[in-house]
Formats: sequence, structure tokens, C-alpha cells
Amino acid sequence: MIRKFTFGTPFPTEAVVTPCPSESGELPYFSREGGSISCRLAPEIPVYGLGEQVRGINKRGWIYISNCSDEPHHLETRSSLYGAHNFLLLGGDAPFGIFIDYPGKITFDIGYTRGDTLTITPEDWNLDLYLIEAEDHKYTTIVRQFREMIGRSYIPPKWAFGYGQSRWGYKTEADIRQVAENHRKNKIPLDAVYLDIDYMERYKDFTVSKERFPDLPALVSDMKKEGIHLVPIIDAGVKAEEGYFVCEEGLKNGYFCKEEDGREFVGAVWPGQSYFPDMLNPKVRRWFGQKYKILLDMGIDGFWNDMNEPAIFYSPKRLNKVLDQAAAFKGQNLDLDKTNELLGLINTLANNPEDYRSFYHEPGKGRPKIRHDKVHNLYGYNMTRAAGEAFEELEPDKRILMFSRSSYIGMHRYGGIWQGDNLSWWSHLLMNVKMMPSLNMCGFLYTGADLGGFGDDTTEDLMLRWLQFGIFTPLMRNHSAMGTREQEAYRFSNMESLRQIIRLRYCLLPYLYSEYMKAALNNDMMFRPLSFDYPDDREASFVEDQLLLGEGLMLAPVCQQNARGRSVYLPENMLLITTSGPEDFRFREMKAGYHYVEAAENELIFFLRRDHILPLAPAAENVEQLDTTRLRAVAYLSRTGSYQLYDDDGTGKDYENPDHYETLTVSLDGSARRSKPEGHILTAEVFPVSED
Ligand code: NOJ
Repeated sequence: MIRKFTFGTPFPTEAVVTPCPSESGELPYFSREGGSISCRLAPEIPVYGLGEQVRGINKRGWIYISNCSDEPHHLETRSSLYGAHNFLLLGGDAPFGIFIDYPGKITFDIGYTRGDTLTITPEDWNLDLYLIEAEDHKYTTIVRQFREMIGRSYIPPKWAFGYGQSRWGYKTEADIRQVAENHRKNKIPLDAVYLDIDYMERYKDFTVSKERFPDLPALVSDMKKEGIHLVPIIDAGVKAEEGYFVCEEGLKNGYFCKEEDGREFVGAVWPGQSYFPDMLNPKVRRWFGQKYKILLDMGIDGFWNDMNEPAIFYSPKRLNKVLDQAAAFKGQNLDLDKTNELLGLINTLANNPEDYRSFYHEPGKGRPKIRHDKVHNLYGYNMTRAAGEAFEELEPDKRILMFSRSSYIGMHRYGGIWQGDNLSWWSHLLMNVKMMPSLNMCGFLYTGADLGGFGDDTTEDLMLRWLQFGIFTPLMRNHSAMGTREQEAYRFSNMESLRQIIRLRYCLLPYLYSEYMKAALNNDMMFRPLSFDYPDDREASFVEDQLLLGEGLMLAPVCQQNARGRSVYLPENMLLITTSGPEDFRFREMKAGYHYVEAAENELIFFLRRDHILPLAPAAENVEQLDTTRLRAVAYLSRTGSYQLYDDDGTGKDYENPDHYETLTVSLDGSARRSKPEGHILTAEVFPVSED
């Protein structure tokens, strides 16, 4: 059951797609005082949600702020990252979900100021608040209702489930060819190479550097022959430059955000001074979205949208002010206080709230103009929506890969997200793990982190352990920052181990793709905390570093350097799978309870749940070459079991077609069959569940 409460005059975010009338009565659960609403948190009840955020799966004990931020330091002490995902699920015996559809800054104090109190404080009270309850009191039912309300999650092309290599630092066509060749030469599977800002002509969107990429269409086509897709980046800011067509068209039509006095707002990003398209205006969205055609026409079929919080390095106005003030420090003997003052001054340059308060959007449809900070969290969402809407028009029958850095709930219908500028830290691997279920709750299924870590230097073992988790995330991309240690799989002395793990991704794809598609089509979570499936198991509710993946798997990634195993909690008997690559699978039944499980550095451990089947394909060089007609099933059964496989051409949009489903049936005696008989082979290895 969903109940909606409207306060003031909310800005239509279009996060919700199913109409729901507002109620007029008192808001249950919460008391309202001043600008906040509060409710009591009983001891031990978990609080889930908030999508892309720091800290735990259970969000209790910290203060989180939805305020989309270009934040390269994902420290525990931060309160905001790139997304604004205002959905919470309060657990316990009478659980409920709450979604606050509010596009400005909003604070969630989840037992930080007082351990037993949740306080929610938006900057103003123009918002829709939804309460979601489930008759069966199940967390999964609450999330499913919420997800139905916000619409189906984005579905990428199947090739986007392959391994992708990226680095901010590939500067030329030769660099890209080299990366592809090194993967092929070393037999490391590869489906995509990403183009970061250097492919553009001086960081100008929808241009290609003639000097460094003299013939991008030819490069794209050569790479496609190798089964490799090129995925260019698009930035939010448009370079302010005479003669640059995007800038000129935008200016002529008044498509950029303007200050109070009607002049275009200027902020600096990569290209220096830039304008910001008014993504909240449908006309502007259409204009900007159609620009992706320039690259689509060159054969490109995937993009990533960046810097769309929007990030602003400085505004010229602020820069002048700061430089004037800084001039006063010249020649002085600066003590601690003075030095801090100077540094503080410089720190006010980037992403300054005053800048966000100084420009406006014209949302069209007769709506009055609105100051940016009031709708700040919608910018990245609408940039990606611009692209998504254009793709529908330009390529109605083809899936285009799209993921964004900044997002708001609603954007999940148009693209995925990557988890931004993490660091090559073990704790950031763990953060990647914890973010997955929170993002899934909020509709973001196509997601993953920069594997190996974006900033700072990675290590061989971190790269390997991170890939051992990354082979399960829908977006599996190795990405790193300029100036850091190069981290393509072929750079390391443990390349063979890395290669084997990447190959495993392709073996797992029939399962991963099926689980993704079923989660998207049924509004379910692909990654779940243990408590979602084992609600009566108190121990399970405290587990923060294991996840359920799809219907049959439980993951227990090793997130610690030099560890040769880890402690695992099993809510029930499970089948332990230990593998170092497609040719090495070992199985062992394990009893419910706590265990220490060995996992050498090159070994991945995960678990198959009872009465479930894991289909595995032979390894492949890329998704195109994946052979799903020959499958091997690993089954852990107490009786005959079945698995619903989803497969399609991976590019079309007839998602609901029943022909895409196939049933795999495995019996205890090891016999196995597929419901599509023509030439489809299934062999099975059955591990019987031993009853206690
Ligand atoms: C910031 C993005 O988060 C990162 O992934 C990218 O490499 C840089 N911008 C440069 O484009």
C-alpha cells in the first residue's frame, strides 16, 4: 500500500510514474517540528536505502545529505556523493518505506544526533512524501511496490555486461588500439574501451580531436570487428567559445541557464569557461539529446555522462573575488590561522553553494523559472534523460549503453550510474559491495564501481580481489585516473590470475544476465542484504559484507589485503564454490552458521543456495562470442530443481517476449534438460543437500 502526502507546491520531478492521489490526514509514524520530521528508531531495527552513499548497508548512525556533489573523497566522514536517492526502508516487525520526492538539499539524520531518532530535514517543505507498507511485512514487497511506482529500470545492451577497460589518460587512437591489442594478445576478454575527455577537441562535447583521432568512424568499425565497443564520455558543461556550434546554437536559442539578470551563467569545467544547458527544459533536453546523434552516426553505441552534478571548478565572478582577497596575503608572514584562512578561501572556489544559487532554470510548460539550488539534484538526471529520450527517437529498436555520474531517482529509467571517483583502497572495495543493494532499492540496477580504484595507486592483489567482486556487478569496468599506476590487467605480474577471473565473468553471464533482466522486468533487487531473504534470522541482519545475488547466489568477497580467506555467515546450508578460473571449480557443502573459509589470493569464493541451480557457459572472448547453447549446471538440490533462464539478442527492446525465457530442469540423479530442445545442451553436476 502506498500513501502520498503533499506539502506546499512540489516541483514536478517526474521521479514517479504511476499516479497516486494525495491524502489530507496526519502523516503517520512521524512528528513534525519546525522544518523537520522525526520518528523513533527502536533498538536494532535496521534502516536501509539512500542509494549512492557512504557507510553501511544499514544506514543507522550517521547523517546523510542528498546534495549531488563532485566528491572525489569518499570518506566515512562525508555526507554527500554524486546521487540523491531519497528512499529509506525502516526494518523490523512493521517495516515501511519512505520516499521524499524533493529535488533540493535534504538531510537524513539516521540516529546520529540521537541514536534512537530519525530526523529528516528538507530545505523547504515543497515536496511529495510517499509511505510504502506491505501487508506481508516483507522488505522485498515494499521495495517492489516502490520500484513499480518509479518505473522500470534501464536495460543496457548485452555487450555492456562484458568487461570494459578505461583510463583517463588514453589520449590517441594509437593508445586505444594498443589497449585493445594488448587484451587480445594476452587473451584477456574485452567488450569495451572507454574514451575519456581527451578524445574531444579541447574538451568540447560532441567534437572529436582531428589530430588525435583523425578517423573515429574507422576506429569504431575496426574495433567492432574485434567485438569491442568504444564508449565516449560527454560532459555537462559546454565550452563558451565563439564558433563552437553547440555554444552558438545554445546561445542563439537561449538554451543555457541564466542568472537573475538574464545573462548566461558561466562556470569553469575542463574546457575553462562553460555554459550549462538548461536540462530541466524539455526543449533544451531535446536539443542536447539530439547532439548524441553526431557520435551515433560514427558507429558509437554507448556513452557515459560526467560532471553533471553539475561540477563547477569556479565561476569567473568568484575567482576574481578570491584572487582579490588572496592578494592581501602577498608578502605576509602567514601563521597557522592565516594559512588556514588562505587555504579556506581557495577552497570556496569549487562547487560553491552561492554559485548554485545564482542561476535559474526555465522548466517550460508554463512553469515559473526556478533557482538552481531548489532543483539542484535533478540536473544529472535530466542530462541523462535528454540522452535517453533522444535514443528512443533516434534508435527506437536498439539499446544504447548509457550511464551517468550524477543521478536522482527517476533517472534509473534512462541509464545506469557508475559509483564515481573512488580510490584504490580496500575500504572502497567494501564500499562498492555495500552500495549495490542500496542502489538496487532505488532502481539503479546497471551499476558498478571503478574496479581497481580510480584515484591513487592500486596493487596487484587489490586489483585481483576487486575483480573477484566486479565480475558480479552489471557494469564491470576497470577505470583509473591520470597520473596513477597503470592498471590494465596486462600490466601486472599476476596477469594470469586476473585473466582467469575476467574469463569467469563470461561463464557467469547466462546467470547474471537472466537475473538482471528478471530484476528489471519484475521490479526486484538483483543484489540484496541477507536480511531481505532471511528476515527471521537475527544474525543475518547484521551482516554487512555478504550479499545475495539473484535467486541463487550468496557472495562473500574478500576485502582485506593479505587475507587468505574470510569469515562467512551462512543462514542455511549452502554449497561453497571455490574457483580460480573457468577450468577450476571446486564444491563443498557447508552447514549453516559461522565459518572461516579459505580463499587464496587467486581464488574466488561464493555460495549456491539450497534448491538452486547455477548455469555456466563456456568462457568467451567477448559477449558476442558467448555460446549459450552449451550450458553446464551446478545444482545444489534436495529435489528436482529448475531455473528460469532469460536470453535474447541483447540489442532489441521486446523485453517481455515469452520466447526469451527457457526453463532448465535438473533432477537429483543428474539428468538435465532445457525447455528449448533444438540443439541446446545442458550437463549437470548435482550436489545433494544433506539433511541434518
Ligand atoms: C571525473 C570522472 O568521475 C572520472 O571518471 C573521469 O575520468 C574524469 N572526470 C575525467 O573525465
